[in-house]
Amino acid sequence: MRVLGIETSCDETAVAVYDGERGLMANRVWSQIELHRPHGGVVPELASREHVERLLPMIEDSLGDAGIAPQAIDGIAYTAGPGLIGALLVGATVARSLGYAWAVPVVGVHHLEGHLLAPQLEPGAPEFPFIALLVSGGHTMLVEVAGLGRYRILGETLDDAAGEAFDKTAKLLGLEYPGGPALAALAESGRDGVFEFPRPMLDRPGLDFSFSGLKTAVVVALRGRTLDAQARADAARGFESAMVETLVAKALRAIRQTGIGALVVAGGVGANRRLRAELAAAVVAAGGRVHYPRPEFCTDNAAMIALVGHARLVAGEREALPVHARARWPLDDLAAPRH
Ligand code: KG4
Ligand code: ZN
Repeated sequence: MRVLGIETSCDETAVAVYDGERGLMANRVWSQIELHRPHGGVVPELASREHVERLLPMIEDSLGDAGIAPQAIDGIAYTAGPGLIGALLVGATVARSLGYAWAVPVVGVHHLEGHLLAPQLEPGAPEFPFIALLVSGGHTMLVEVAGLGRYRILGETLDDAAGEAFDKTAKLLGLEYPGGPALAALAESGRDGVFEFPRPMLDRPGLDFSFSGLKTAVVVALRGRTLDAQARADAARGFESAMVETLVAKALRAIRQTGIGALVVAGGVGANRRLRAELAAAVVAAGGRVHYPRPEFCTDNAAMIALVGHARLVAGEREALPVHARARWPLDDLAAPRH
């Protein structure tokens, strides 16, 4: 089965073609970052309009990349949520219309299920069960993944997502949106121990996260100070250390609590070099192993949506004609396909 995947949940317009035998045949991502940068964050209405303009040409180009005609598509998968409702509806409407025109089945996919199963796009993917640490601009959670549609949320953020905390702190340090990567680069020249920020919720049992207090601690520490370049780097270093240490400690706790040693790291913050290095060292020392999908499969993409859609369509899942899109969608609502 050959599936066209469509992802429009936030500020990336993405299209992919995934074939059950040949694997990924096309994978295009159009990042809208430059469009939103002047506004300091994603503007939902601008995102929707950009999806409208980009999506159909990108589908044509992706079919071209794969070297196939539309008749060679056997099914379509689109991100049905969670995400920005207007943005989601663009992908949903295009997917359902093409499904109708091409007379092929269509399935709406949960965006986070895409992130959780993205490692399967590459050889050497970990076998079920594994623990996933999902750290992006919109989500921070630890999930036990037992199989397709079999997820148990072990812990999640009670307020800001990890990427959001990076971005907000970067803004405080005068860096441009999205500031996570810029803050990480600045932290390279920062010194340890100049700024000591709290490690949120490490003193409490459980696997939930909370990052809004950390951001406040940075605000308080910087208040009334004129920061030279070295001090800004030191502050970035202090913040990054607190984030990394917290994420590593909770991931280790999840491994100990479940007895599952395989850890997958997904989401944009998974690109953070110190997080990668320190997680790898800590998890290996605890007898486990860490798996990082390639960066293009860590961040938002349609390959992961096509992959999940393929698995669900092969299992016989079908949707009726109405379009489904949900701004909020608890991962716990998903079920394994009925065989
Ligand atoms: O998964 P993603 O590409 O998009 C969604 O949130 O859906 O994640 C983007 C987030 C942003 O908050 C960005 O600042 C953060 O990941 N990020 C980083 C790094 N690279 C991206 N945060 C810290 N260090 C990085 N190297
Ligand atoms: Zn995402």
